[in-house]
Amino acid sequence: MKAVRLVVVGFGNIGKGLASTLLEKRKQLMERGYDLRVVAVCEQKGCVVDDEGVDLEKLVGGKAKWDERLKTLEVIRSVEADIVVELTPGNINTGEPGLGHMKAALESGKHLVTSNKSPLVVGYRELSRMAAGKGLQLKFEATVGGAIPVINTCGNELKANAIRNIYGILNGTTNYILWKMTEEGVDFKTALKEAQNLGFAESNPDYDIKGIDTAAKVLILANSVMGMDAKMKDLKVTGIEGVTAEAIELAKDYGYAIKLVGDIAGKEVSPRLIPVEHPLNVPGNLNAILVETDVAGDITLIGAGAGAKETSSAILSDILAVAERL
Ligand SMILES: NC(=O)c1ccc[n+]([C@@H]2O[C@H](COP(=O)([O-])OP(=O)(O)OC[C@H]3O[C@@H](n4cnc5c(N)ncnc54)[C@H](OP(=O)(O)O)[C@@H]3O)[C@@H](O)[C@H]2O)c1
Repeated sequence: MKAVRLVVVGFGNIGKGLASTLLEKRKQLMERGYDLRVVAVCEQKGCVVDDEGVDLEKLVGGKAKWDERLKTLEVIRSVEADIVVELTPGNINTGEPGLGHMKAALESGKHLVTSNKSPLVVGYRELSRMAAGKGLQLKFEATVGGAIPVINTCGNELKANAIRNIYGILNGTTNYILWKMTEEGVDFKTALKEAQNLGFAESNPDYDIKGIDTAAKVLILANSVMGMDAKMKDLKVTGIEGVTAEAIELAKDYGYAIKLVGDIAGKEVSPRLIPVEHPLNVPGNLNAILVETDVAGDITLIGAGAGAKETSSAILSDILAVAERL
């Protein structure tokens, strides 16, 4: 069994979630013929490198010794590895620091798996061209819908189809807020506060409530699955701050729910009326994505749009897909 060597960049919620899942599944993966070995982990403060495999238990337990002299870009370029797993947060305007990490990975001949949207929003074309030019794989299932396998489903299981449109609930925080307003008749501010208390919303929630996070996911699906060459400026984006308790009540009276919908073919993110019995009318912080196809008809995928453990499903599945073709 040949070891598949991984460099993990970013060891926050998602990095730790991936490490925990790798530990939990080590025996099963070995039995299935995958010897996944993390040979380096990087954070801003430094890196941990071990050619024989980093001790993930120690790392997850906060007991590892980080070498502050080691810099991320240097490690990505110099460590002998098959796949770089890029899990840092990114700037939506520049794509950095992830974009630089990803280019360095591809330039040094390493496949790439990521959960980081921003580099793909800014540089999807360039990155996919670089990867194709070097015969490398670029996998990013975790960037859209957390655990929901929408990108791979469209690219693999729906291969026989033309994808006519993809639209749906791509942000759990806003879905939670709108759902709470609908269920309890509370106003936007109260629902937002509760989402923050439960850890679903950031202390600065703008990125979610202004629809920017959904727009980033719309762009990724537009450019990767639907073959467009769209930019942020091409999208019409309206958030949910203007949705009132009265509007929700009125919609309810007529059998509708108000949902923040990302619509790829329409290049739009906006609050929309969804019939209560429609499959996109999902509760809590769930995501729901509807794929319109010519042969299979409509396919709806529903599941966790975030969460360290849930998202590790998409990341690990991408790693295994790359490993299979090594
Ligand atoms: N959380 C979710 O449920 C979820 C779901 C899907 C996708 N994502 C995406 O996954 C990515 C990671 O999310 P997260 O929740 O794990 O974020 P996080 O908890 O903030 O962790 C980010 C990690 O990246 C590291 N980092 C930042 N800049 C770096 C650099 N220049 N070099 C090396 N490491 C660097 C940070 O290190 P320091 O601590 O040293 O700063 C930290 O370890 C984001 O792009 C996010 O949008 C998250």
